[in-house]
Amino acid sequence: MTQRQIDRLNAARASIASRMGAPCDTAIVLGTGLGHLADMVAHPTYIPYQEIAGFPVSTAPGHHGRLVIGTLFGRRTVLMQGRVHLYEGWTARDIALAIYLLSAFGPKQLILTNAAGGLNPAFEAGSVMLIEDHINLTGHNPLIGPNDDGIGLRFPDLTRAYDPTLREKAIAAAEAAGQKLHRGIYLGLTGPSLETSAERRYFRATGGDAVGMSTVLETIAAVHAGLPVLGLSAITNPATGAPGEAPDTIEDVIENAAISGQKITGILEKLFPAL
Ligand code: HPA
Repeated sequence: MTQRQIDRLNAARASIASRMGAPCDTAIVLGTGLGHLADMVAHPTYIPYQEIAGFPVSTAPGHHGRLVIGTLFGRRTVLMQGRVHLYEGWTARDIALAIYLLSAFGPKQLILTNAAGGLNPAFEAGSVMLIEDHINLTGHNPLIGPNDDGIGLRFPDLTRAYDPTLREKAIAAAEAAGQKLHRGIYLGLTGPSLETSAERRYFRATGGDAVGMSTVLETIAAVHAGLPVLGLSAITNPATGAPGEAPDTIEDVIENAAISGQKITGILEKLFPAL
């Protein structure tokens, strides 16, 4: 029988209770290229994932593997510096556990950031997309298994998975920051292999604007836990599947993620006072 998430959550929480401090206003998951945000946190407390009971430990390149708790842009914030992915061998329920633990810090919202390929031909590498909705093609769902009524409903509604008010605030923040902000649908896959060109054309035709290997399961867990979500994608490479499209290299992805990441930082700086 699958271990109950509420028991895992309680154990994880108990193992760090003395270090959690006052409730947080906002939680953020940092994707590729956003790690530097963690260095901007004032008076940080670091909790490496290895020190959290039962917690998955991220192994992805450019992902640190620790919680950072402190003040970011004047607000008390908890950051996941390094997320966990299906492609590392973690389960959907491991990924959800991380989100439930963030939720235990009492935030009013969760900001999910990620690196993604641009299915939409109008999205240039180094740009930023506001996630309006997602298509979960991972074939996984973190809520399969016994439901914990103490966390959320058996059948949570996902029609407004990306909170409309937060989306409006992010659009206003991008305007104030002078940053272009694309809007679109994030399509989630397991990876780790990238898509074939035919798959990319297929995913575009099915309504995707950006494609990546994270976020969708985290959003499901957050909605389950009643935590409003804002999603921002760093567009790191064209992924239109056009003939002659250059092969993706991890170096290009990381370089462009840093460019988009700076833009996301500028947007968040304007957004935080409005949260
Ligand atoms: N596909 C999937 N995930 C990604 C990509 C991509 O092209 N770029 C960055 N993450």
